[in-house]
Amino acid sequence: MAEFFVLNTGARIPSVGLGTATGKAEPGVVGAAVYAAVKAGYRHIDCAPQYRNEKEIGLTLKKLFEDGVVKREDLFITSKLWSGNHAPEDVPEGIDTTLEDLQLEYLDLFLIHTPIRSKKGAIPTPENFLPVDIPATWGAMEKLYHSGKARAIGVSNFSCKRMEDLLAIASVPPAVNQVESHPGWQQMKLRELCKSKGVHISAYSPLGKPGSPGSMGKGFLSNPIVVSVAEKLQKTPAQVALRWGLQMGHSVLPKSVNETRMKENLSVFGWSIPEDLMAKFSEIPQVKTLRAEFVVHPQGIYKTVEDFWDALL
Ligand code: A2P
Repeated sequence: MAEFFVLNTGARIPSVGLGTATGKAEPGVVGAAVYAAVKAGYRHIDCAPQYRNEKEIGLTLKKLFEDGVVKREDLFITSKLWSGNHAPEDVPEGIDTTLEDLQLEYLDLFLIHTPIRSKKGAIPTPENFLPVDIPATWGAMEKLYHSGKARAIGVSNFSCKRMEDLLAIASVPPAVNQVESHPGWQQMKLRELCKSKGVHISAYSPLGKPGSPGSMGKGFLSNPIVVSVAEKLQKTPAQVALRWGLQMGHSVLPKSVNETRMKENLSVFGWSIPEDLMAKFSEIPQVKTLRAEFVVHPQGIYKTVEDFWDALL
């Protein structure tokens, strides 16, 4: 298993990246985590303005370059267009703010963060939502791709239906769909569709967000199948979950601010899950951790979570 996948642009996306949506981490924690991760060998950092830490990450990247740890071209940096910038005329400002905060001249990948459009500058709560116009937003994303500011463009949180709609109108096909995926939420239908269209899947929350309310404790990391495979291979359940993702053909973006766990999550090369054990993963119950209930409102655009995910749940 190589340490990268090849996108439909020809670029190489590292198989393991560091997620930076670390919620209420104290100032400095994410910056320190990114520094430690790059020193440990991570080459992909997944960012977003919504995580409210791009300035801190920008300072860290600058320091990493100044300290000679890596060069810009050694890193793969992803960021995302937030909901308030979906209007085509606001898309350039979306990437420009991110580039300024990250102190970069270009992104390796720029994604539409979510198929939610909200009023510019407003808190993204249902009363501030507007109907999405993905063809218009995508047209502006394509311009960024042609300008070189985004070396690849893609989407995040897109269902099969939204992918099909986008593929039908795109002149530049999306390179990536970044979605929740792990042994406890395998996304088989979406996976097949994306594979057949050459769209790479990148998995956020590949550990199922252990400890979060949605995962109810350790989530699928305590599932007996995952635990027994880990015991057989003398790996941790987290490593088995990440390795499962790589063998399924997608890159993984585990989040950690802890150096030991970060290194653990990168130690998924040079060994593999044999086919007979891979087959057992199909028996794991499927539960979506991130349901996005915050988008639902009886008078809003999404009246149920199923509306938002296109009946994926
Ligand atoms: P921490 O930052 O203390 O390591 P996900 O990427 O699926 O959303 O999960 C993120 C959560 O998983 C974080 O709370 C992180 O905590 C924890 N985590 C990261 N790596 C591991 C690991 N190898 N084993 C257990 N928990 C982990």
